[in-house]
Order: sequence, then structure tokens, then C-alpha cells
Amino acid sequence: MSNLRILAIETSCDDSGAACFAGSKLLSNVVASQHKDHAPWSGVVPEVASRRHLDNLPLVVDRALEQAGWQAGDIEAIAVTNRPGLLGSLLVGVAYAKGLAFSLGIPLLAVDHIEAHLLSVDLDCPDTPYPRLGWVVSGGHSHLYLVNSPADIKLLAKTRDDAAGEAYDKLAKRLGLGYPGGPVVEKLSREGNPDAFKFALPRMSDGSLDLSFSGLKTEVMRALKKAGDQVDESLQKDLCAAFQKAVERQILHRTEKALQNHPGVKAITLAGGVACNQGLRRAVAELAEKQGVLMAAPAPKFCTDNAAMIGLAALPRFEAGQRDDMTLDASASHTFAGYRKAARHR
Ligand code: KG4
Ligand code: ZN
Repeated sequence: MSNLRILAIETSCDDSGAACFAGSKLLSNVVASQHKDHAPWSGVVPEVASRRHLDNLPLVVDRALEQAGWQAGDIEAIAVTNRPGLLGSLLVGVAYAKGLAFSLGIPLLAVDHIEAHLLSVDLDCPDTPYPRLGWVVSGGHSHLYLVNSPADIKLLAKTRDDAAGEAYDKLAKRLGLGYPGGPVVEKLSREGNPDAFKFALPRMSDGSLDLSFSGLKTEVMRALKKAGDQVDESLQKDLCAAFQKAVERQILHRTEKALQNHPGVKAITLAGGVACNQGLRRAVAELAEKQGVLMAAPAPKFCTDNAAMIGLAALPRFEAGQRDDMTLDASASHTFAGYRKAARHR
């Protein structure tokens, strides 16, 4: 593997990230979160997010270079998230990356944010064997993939409505618990009774492994409506515990079915912001152990949005000779394909 010095940039949602790699060695990984800016609205406000990226990204890049002991002239290649995400946020990163690559006269490469989440497990567990069943559970996605190799990834299932993280955020908003919802709902769930409410396990009539979280949201809203003015702390904890159990149950159910359909799988991987959830990590680890496969998930700082995963996903593509040019644009939708197909500009 080469020692290519890559600067990676991530601005797809509300975190501005920059990371420096020498080949596969991560030298720095800096993230500026905007949670405080969006908390009053209990969710990300796109216009606010792109404005904050404009302020934060140059500072984050400077910090990442400083921690790596680099000057701008040391950068040999730039990787940037260009899809999927909030268009205004993505455009800030893409414009910055294009300007820097042009002024330094170095190669530029676009990375798909979901592919980067999926492969982020290799930041901490690089020896995880293939084929893998890979989950990306975040604020925008709940996708399950069969990962035969980093270049051969097949979608097995995805949410038909809300993403898992979005469901946590909506529950927290309804309970007045702030943003992001995942960490606080998980914390409360540990003190509640998971069996206080029985939430249904969604199944698709066509037999697909697709997920759904909107029914769970409706069931929670119904329980809250029934409680009326009686929503005290104990009810909140019980609701969070039952909700946490329902999310785990749905993900375990899909994982188990996917393992039956793909008996050669050697590992289950968890990535994306919801993979910070200790209850989910434990539940998937138990299932993996029972099924005789490995379970791997990156450290929480690599589960939530970060640029380290962007640089890691870019490295083999740079080595395969892929490049993007100054016509590179941002896209709100998810369009990743294997490497060979994705080689647009050489
Ligand atoms: O991957 P990420 O940082 O951004 C997206 O690409 O969406 O994920 C953010 C999501 C938020 O919805 C947040 O509530 C959720 O991850 N999250 C969690 C936990 N920590 C963050 N969900 C459940 N449990 C957690 N501990
Ligand atoms: Zn993400």
C-alpha cells in the first residue's frame, strides 16, 4: 500500500470533519459538532448547518493539519464526501475541496458517505473477515448490505420510511429531551421497563427484509396520547426502554434472516451514529456469538460522522487510479457502485 498523504473532508450533515492519512495510517481526525446550534429546533436546520460549515471547516482543516504535523503543501490528495446528505452542507465541503485541490494542483476524489460508514469498521477492526453483513444505522439511513469486499457491496434491505436515528430523534423531540435524541433515549431506557409497552415487529408483506420505524413512532405517540397529562419521568423511562427494545428486536430479526439467506457470512458489522448505542451493540454481539460469526463495530467517535472514514474509503480508490475533476458536484442521493463502475474521471 502507498503512503499517499490524503486530506479527507466531511460536511454531509451537521458535523464538519477533517482527517489526515499517510497511506492507511490515520494521523489526525478532527470534528466540529453543531449540536448546540440545532438543539433549539430538536433537529438539523439545513440553512444553519451550511452556514456553520462555512465557519467551521477551515478551522477544522487547520487543526487536522497541525495535529498531523503538516503544512498545506504536504497534502498529496483530497477526498471529500459529495453524497448523500444535505445539499447545502455537502456543497461547502465540495467547493472547499475543489478550491484546495485546484490551488495545490493535486488529485481530488469524491466519496459516498454511506459507503464510508459501512467501511468505517476497518478504522478499528481492520482484520474483520469477508463476507460481512454490514449495517449502516444513522440519522438518515438504516441499510443492511452484503459486503463481499470493499469493492463488491450489495444492498439487502433498507428502511421504507424513517431511519432508526431519525426515530430516536423524533421520540426525544416529542418527550422534550433535546437533540440528538439517541444518546438521551438510550440513557433513560436503561432505567425503564422494556416490557411496559408491547410494540409490534414490522414485517413486509412481500417477504423482504426492509425495515420500518414509522409504525413504532405512531405506537409511541398513541401511548403518550393515552397517558394525557400523566407523562412523568417513570413513564418516559418505560417508553424509552420499550422503544429501545423494539429497535433492537427489528435489527436482530433482519440480521438473523440475512444470516440464514447468506450462510457464508463471517462477520456482522455495525456502523453509523446509532451504532454508538451500547444496547444495540450488545444485542448484535450476542446474536453473532450464538450464530458463530464475528461482530465488529468501530469506536463511537468513528460511528458518528467523521472524516477518518472518508479518507479510509478513498485510499483504495486513489490506488486504483480513480480521480474526480473540477466538474464534481454534490448530490443529495445515494448512488454508490463498485469501484470499477464508479471510475468516472481518470
Ligand atoms: O451517522 P450520524 O452521525 O449522522 C448521519 O449520517 O445521520 O448519526 C446521527 C444519528 C442521530 O439520529 C442520533 O440520534 C443517533 O445517530 N445516535 C444514536 C446514539 N448516538 C447517536 N442513536 C441511538 N443511540 C445512541 N447512543
Ligand atoms: Zn452519517
